Amino acid sequence: MTHPMSPVDEVLEMFWRLGSTLFLGEPVSQTEHALQTAWLAEQAGAVPALVAAALLHDIGYLLAGGAGPPDAISSGDPRHAETGAALLANGFPPSVVEPVRLHVAAKRYLCTVEPGYPALLTPASRLSLGPQGGLMTPAEAAAFLATPFAAEALVLRRWDEMARVPSLATPSLAHFRPGLEAVAIPPRHPAVGDPADRG
Ligand SMILES: [Fe+2]
Repeated sequence: MTHPMSPVDEVLEMFWRLGSTLFLGEPVSQTEHALQTAWLAEQAGAVPALVAAALLHDIGYLLAGGAGPPDAISSGDPRHAETGAALLANGFPPSVVEPVRLHVAAKRYLCTVEPGYPALLTPASRLSLGPQGGLMTPAEAAAFLATPFAAEALVLRRWDEMARVPSLATPSLAHFRPGLEAVAIPPRHPAVGDPADRG
């Protein structure tokens, strides 16, 4: 019987394998962007689940990169929040998964309600707003705010915008492993008599 990788090993392995890919249109790699976002969360005193969400919020881009050439990792892919959340749902609770799922909607929300917000975006992030759905209607904004973990997604999003600084020193992936382990859902052990556990 082969043992599946733990959820934490699985995501860290994705960063080691694909994280040095440039975050298209930004002056940092995928891993640098993830570490900077998580470091901002930790310095702000965020709970471990939100630090984990900050580290993992763009993992959908790495999924896309694994499926194609490195230049397929586009900072404008509007689906990366959903594909990332779907991957994480196997091993992490909603307090991690939902802020990840909602971080693109959070950008749309903030651009809609805060007049100065679009100016905070990098050119690449401003460019991707359209493909991601553009500004929200009042009904969309109200529905977003009523979604569980919308508040967490909004604070994550503000760190996300700031986490694009070239050559910024941050802790390494290893620094964040204990926090990930603390919030991950332990792999389910096959029940006695489970056919998958025979042979
Ligand atoms: Fe991001």
